Amino acid sequence: MPFTDEELKLLRNSWDEVKKLGMKEVGLHIFTGLLNAAPSLRTLFYTIDLPDEEELTIDVMRENKKVVAHATRIANAISKFIKFLDQPEELEKLLTSLGESHARRQVDPESFEYVAPVILSVIGGHLKLPSNSPTLQAWVKAYGVLRNGIVSAMEA
Ligand code: HEM
Repeated sequence: MPFTDEELKLLRNSWDEVKKLGMKEVGLHIFTGLLNAAPSLRTLFYTIDLPDEEELTIDVMRENKKVVAHATRIANAISKFIKFLDQPEELEKLLTSLGESHARRQVDPESFEYVAPVILSVIGGHLKLPSNSPTLQAWVKAYGVLRNGIVSAMEA
C-alpha cells in the first residue's frame, strides 16, 4: 500500500522523535504494554512465575535479558520498517523474515492484533498527540501494512 509523502514525513518525524528515548527504552515501552495487554504471551519470554493479572512495570521488564532482547528487536525492526516504507523490495524482505521467524517460534498470528494499540499509545503518549491526529492515522495505516506482511508470511 503506497504512502503519501505527507504520511511518510509524519511517520518518520514521529519515529525519530520517539527514538530519542533510545531503542531499548522505546522497545521496553512497547513490549511492556504488549505483555500487559496480552499476558498469555509472557510465557514465550520468561519463566518467572508472575500471575497474569499482575501489571508488569518497565523496571521489572528490564531485569529480564530475554525481554530486553526482544524489546530492542521490536524497536529496531520498526525502524527498518519505517525506513523501507518507500522501498517495496526491502520492505517485503523484512516482513517475510519477521513472519517466518515468528512462525518458527509458534507465535499465533492473532497475537499481532495486540500490537497496534500499544504502538499508538506509546507514540501518541510520548508526543502528546490527540487521538484524531494525522500522525496517529498514518501509524494505523502503517501498522496495518506491518501486520499484514508479517501474518501473510506466517501463513505462507
Ligand atoms: C505479537 C507479539 C509478538 C510475540 C509473541 C513475539 C515473539 C517472539 C519470540 C518468542 C521471539 C524469539 C525470542 C527473541 O528473539 O527474543 C521473537 C523474535 C523476534 N521478534 Fe517478536 N514477537 C512479537 C512481536 C514482534 C514485533 C511487533 C516485532 C517487530 C516489529 C518483533 C520483532 C522480532 C525480531 C526482529 C525477532 C528476532 C528474529 C530472529 O531471530 O530472526 N516481534 N519474537
